Amino acid sequence: MGKRIALSTPHMSDEGYELEYIHDAFRKNWIAPLGENVNEFEKSMGSYIGAGYPVALSAGTAALHLSMILAGVKAGDKVFCQSLTFSASANPVTYVGAEPVFIDSDYETWNMDPDALEKAFELYGKPAAVVVVHLYGNPARLDRIAGICEKHHVPLIEDAAEALGSEYHGKKCGTFGKYGILSFNGNKIITTSGGGMLLCDNEMDAKHALKLATQAREPLPWYQHEEIGFNYRMSNIVAGIGRGQMKVLPLRVQQKRAICARYAENLAGLPLTFQPEMEHTKSNRWLTSILLNEGCGVTPAELLDALNAENIEGRHLWKPMHAQPVFAKNIYVTAGEISVSDDLFARGVCLPSDSKMTMEDVDRVCGVIRKVLA
Ligand SMILES: Cc1ncc(COP(=O)(O)O)c(C=O)c1O
Repeated sequence: MGKRIALSTPHMSDEGYELEYIHDAFRKNWIAPLGENVNEFEKSMGSYIGAGYPVALSAGTAALHLSMILAGVKAGDKVFCQSLTFSASANPVTYVGAEPVFIDSDYETWNMDPDALEKAFELYGKPAAVVVVHLYGNPARLDRIAGICEKHHVPLIEDAAEALGSEYHGKKCGTFGKYGILSFNGNKIITTSGGGMLLCDNEMDAKHALKLATQAREPLPWYQHEEIGFNYRMSNIVAGIGRGQMKVLPLRVQQKRAICARYAENLAGLPLTFQPEMEHTKSNRWLTSILLNEGCGVTPAELLDALNAENIEGRHLWKPMHAQPVFAKNIYVTAGEISVSDDLFARGVCLPSDSKMTMEDVDRVCGVIRKVLA
């Protein structure tokens, strides 16, 4: 059996930048959730992203939770949330006692369908917020979705956990909403082992997020609290990893895109369809994902089994939130008769997209796919 090919694993710089920043924190004894690494990681992310005010946190999920609070989402409110996503996009809606209303995806992006979003506004009125996701790094239809939110004066929260480095009309994903969130979880395009960032569109919210993330202490000589706080700040050690990873982020985007291009070249002519990249958008191709064409005679489970037998890791697409037992009672809105997210889940596969993969590794994966679909 060949060597293991993984879906997406941590990829530290060859130069060892991450360890240097960690050692520096040890040398200076800044082993706390504050310090130069945290400040510099935020600064370099700010200049890379090119807009907004970043706040480094312990997880992307923490960033989503704070975005709910900053957006003023309260118990009993409705929040319109993309259904085809990881559960962490929806769970924070419930942390504040609100109810996620799930919105279907479209085939053009696999992300929130603007027509279904408009229908949700017609059927259920104005929500407290909208959560859009850039699935596997592929930008959603931000022009229409942001336009709908603006028209109704509803804050847009952009879950860009998977889309660091992706662009929509030349602008980085995560900067289109009132709040954007990033994740540096172990499998993401860059990682800090675990961590996240909140991107605010104004400084006042960023300052408030920082206060909430550090137990909401008031600026007084003693510990005074006038609102409920959290322990969500990123540690200075972890931020050292992030600071080092920023130096290789453009390279990681190139590597992920090269893997996707090789798959596309190698699998041309087979009965499968790649996640489409719309015009004027650039996906970071965090995970190259495909749909098995209807009638091809192979299911995702069969393909994943064949890959697994060759020591290759693949994955089903995210199972939509409206189909999860935990959200069985929640509302789900589709634009038309069919549920696109269910169809995508039934036919979709995420292919290994580890930035450490060689082109020979990609060819080996393609060989298995070719055999199964032949
Ligand atoms: C779409 C999406 N949203 C949110 C998250 C949560 O990020 P974290 O794991 O950093 O809490 C993740 C990844 O884990 C994700 O893929």
